[in-house]
Amino acid sequence: MTPSATAPLTPLLPAPGEARLLADWYATGRPATLNDHLTRYGRPPVTAAGSRTSMPLVEAVEAAGLTGRGGAGFPTARKLRAVAKGRGRAVVVVNAMESEPASRKDQLLLAVAPHLVLDGAVLAAAAVGAATVHVCLPRDRDAQYRQLSAVSDERRRARLDRVRLRLHTLPHAYVSSESTSLVRWLGGGPARPQGSPPRTHERGVGRRPTLVGNAETLAHLALIAHYGPDWYRQAGTPDEPGTTLVTVSGAVATPGVLEVALGTPLTTILSRAGGPTAPLRAVLLGGFAGTWLPSAHLDTPLARHDLAPLGAAPGAGVLIALPRAACAVRETARMLAYLAAHSARQCGPCRLGLPAVAEDFAALAAGRTDPGLLPRLRRRTGLLPDRGACRHPDGAARLAASALHAFPDDVDHHLTHGPCPAAHQSPFIPVPTATPPETWR
Ligand SMILES: Cc1cc2nc3c(=O)[nH]c(=O)nc-3n(C[C@H](O)[C@H](O)[C@H](O)COP(=O)(O)O)c2cc1C
Ligand code: SF4
Repeated sequence: MTPSATAPLTPLLPAPGEARLLADWYATGRPATLNDHLTRYGRPPVTAAGSRTSMPLVEAVEAAGLTGRGGAGFPTARKLRAVAKGRGRAVVVVNAMESEPASRKDQLLLAVAPHLVLDGAVLAAAAVGAATVHVCLPRDRDAQYRQLSAVSDERRRARLDRVRLRLHTLPHAYVSSESTSLVRWLGGGPARPQGSPPRTHERGVGRRPTLVGNAETLAHLALIAHYGPDWYRQAGTPDEPGTTLVTVSGAVATPGVLEVALGTPLTTILSRAGGPTAPLRAVLLGGFAGTWLPSAHLDTPLARHDLAPLGAAPGAGVLIALPRAACAVRETARMLAYLAAHSARQCGPCRLGLPAVAEDFAALAAGRTDPGLLPRLRRRTGLLPDRGACRHPDGAARLAASALHAFPDDVDHHLTHGPCPAAHQSPFIPVPTATPPETWR
């Protein structure tokens, strides 16, 4: 089997009414220039009086029910309120790092609709009383940095924003995109999670109250400011309104990034990506720190409410389709090795627990087992969550535990007969090399 292509930066066709963030791209077929953007949306409605919605922004975001699209799904209005209440001039940070290897949605959004993301950041800055917006990108995406530099210069020349926009390039590691890593790096330190209190919304960059928002979240916020919460709620479910970007890859005919309404069944999302190219064993939802869902669950809607009983969540919208012919145990072992290498090795779970789980999974995948392996793996995956200073070990434990749960027959086969035939073929999911980052600064 050949490795599946990483999802390209291709927006896939949306269902009617579900193109919002990507609407401009569908209308023109090219990235939105400032002119295109202003023609469609006008200037960012920074004051309530200038807004097409009559509500102040924080209330509008609350009424819209917007939740973060960076992974945790935290209500955005609550974060805005907490930062606005903090002492001193606030700071806004756009998390455009997208460190998850299987995700392309933030890169795609910033490529085709950069002004929507920046409008959102500028509007959030006005709402919390910030004078500076820091946009954080990984250091190895040169083309993205050049494009966004040009975009922010264009906004400066047009005197669009009352806040300062500053672009930064950070070391690229899985955990360097965690919110406290960004804050630490912006303060002159390493891009490793800080974890300890006080929390970012109280004392973040320069010890100021700091809002860290995912790039997609901020673009939704801009749409809410432009069109209002009632419009926003026309897509999605009453409890989980709006659309979300999903990166679909693996065994589908046309991998890429889709905009779908929350609540869309997983099987519909796969169909919009051209449908499976082979009978599926499972999908991995949420990326490397996500949850395996066997194909019997593909009718489940992409919504927290429906996924929670399965131990899953929409996360940052990553869907990888795994064909029946691939070895799920080995794919999991490869991702765990990467996650272990990319931890910041500051806390016990990352220094000891995560490498041990990754090693045991590698042994399981290779059929090098001992009678204590499975109980040890179960015990250690149970011990990892809630013990690190950040959620990195929790994500890795979720992946490992969900593989043990979703593929009991494969695990049993590896334990009793050694690796399955699929384990001898080429690996399926593209996994970056499992080497620690060269620098954290
Ligand atoms: C290990 C780890 C990696 C993360 N990587 C990203 C990332 O690449 N992009 C992102 O927006 N959030 C990432 N997050 C979540 C951020 O810490 C933070 O919650 C998010 O940027 C907040 O934005 P939101 O409320 O708009 O989702 C990561 C979290 C963890 C624990
Ligand atoms: S849990 Fe891991 S990644 Fe998170 S702060 Fe601790 S060592 Fe770093």
